[in-house]
Amino acid sequence: TQYTAEINAFSTANADELEQFRIKFLGTKGIIKDIFDEFKAVSPEEKRSLGKVLNEFKQLAEAKYQTLKEQSEVADTSTDSGLDLTLPGEGFEVGSRHPLALVRREIIEIFNKLGFVVAEGPEIEDDWHNFSALNFPEEHPARDMQDTFFIRKGGENGDIALRTHTSSVQVRMMEAGKPPFRAIMPGRVYRNEAISARAHCFFHQVEGLYVDENVSFADLKQTLFYFVQELYGEGTKVRFRPSYFPFTEPSAEMDISCTICKGDGCQMCKHSGWVEILGCGMVDPNVLDNCNIDSKKYSGFAFGMGIERIANLKFEIKDLRLFSENDARFLKQYKTSL
Ligand code: PHE
Repeated sequence: TQYTAEINAFSTANADELEQFRIKFLGTKGIIKDIFDEFKAVSPEEKRSLGKVLNEFKQLAEAKYQTLKEQSEVADTSTDSGLDLTLPGEGFEVGSRHPLALVRREIIEIFNKLGFVVAEGPEIEDDWHNFSALNFPEEHPARDMQDTFFIRKGGENGDIALRTHTSSVQVRMMEAGKPPFRAIMPGRVYRNEAISARAHCFFHQVEGLYVDENVSFADLKQTLFYFVQELYGEGTKVRFRPSYFPFTEPSAEMDISCTICKGDGCQMCKHSGWVEILGCGMVDPNVLDNCNIDSKKYSGFAFGMGIERIANLKFEIKDLRLFSENDARFLKQYKTSL
């Protein structure tokens, strides 16, 4: 009975201890062997009752040994494979949005509030939509303002090229519908420029178009002023400088007060306190006519900006190339901006 209690209480996950247990009770010099040796000397009457007890005792020891052995084997395989089901699970990383996608979304949201919808068009364009309809005359030097990647020269619909601006989407929209138009056109555009910190062979634009009866330059100014207050914060100043685009007349470039240097001068504004962020103007009547819109009845304004430039000013990114290198260390920084 003393041994029965010891066996019942015994437990181990350790292979050495279990082996000690086996030797002590079940080994060739073990306790059970001893008891059975003594048993031989017992009288025949006692043998019957004692035999049953001893057999049960032996079975108990063997059963205990088997269970512990199986348990320790299970434990062993789990350590071998390095699998511990009790460990907490590994966290997985959530991706972050690309800074350009964040800025594009913000721009879209601001103009949505003013009733502008989003319009899209193809990146491979014909000469008509990218140039001719926009009042770029044949062989006009204005075509050289935008260094074009041509895909095919000549042919049925004229040259085929990668669009140099999303103004082509304005043409497609006006051709396909009737005024009023109030839309913005975000998209990727291509220009054949040497890649550097300040220029790339592609970038992203958001252009805007508003055509209706009696649209004035004052509408243009107020729309863009509102946009800038929303994007860069209230109190951001704007100024308009006369400029030239074939598809707008009059044309202007809009600067904003530098959001980074706060008056004390920086690389971004080259110590002037002003940064150019977009081109704009009143849609040239020739463009309206080219798109079968009555330029006597309707007028409109248009504007176009580079998303990279807007993002540079927001996030103080000094090198354009970072946007397309997909360096995770750069992209991860915008996780909190989700
Ligand atoms: N399309 C011009 C560009 O890519 C931008 C612009 C759009 C200017 C609309 C005026 C009006 O530079």
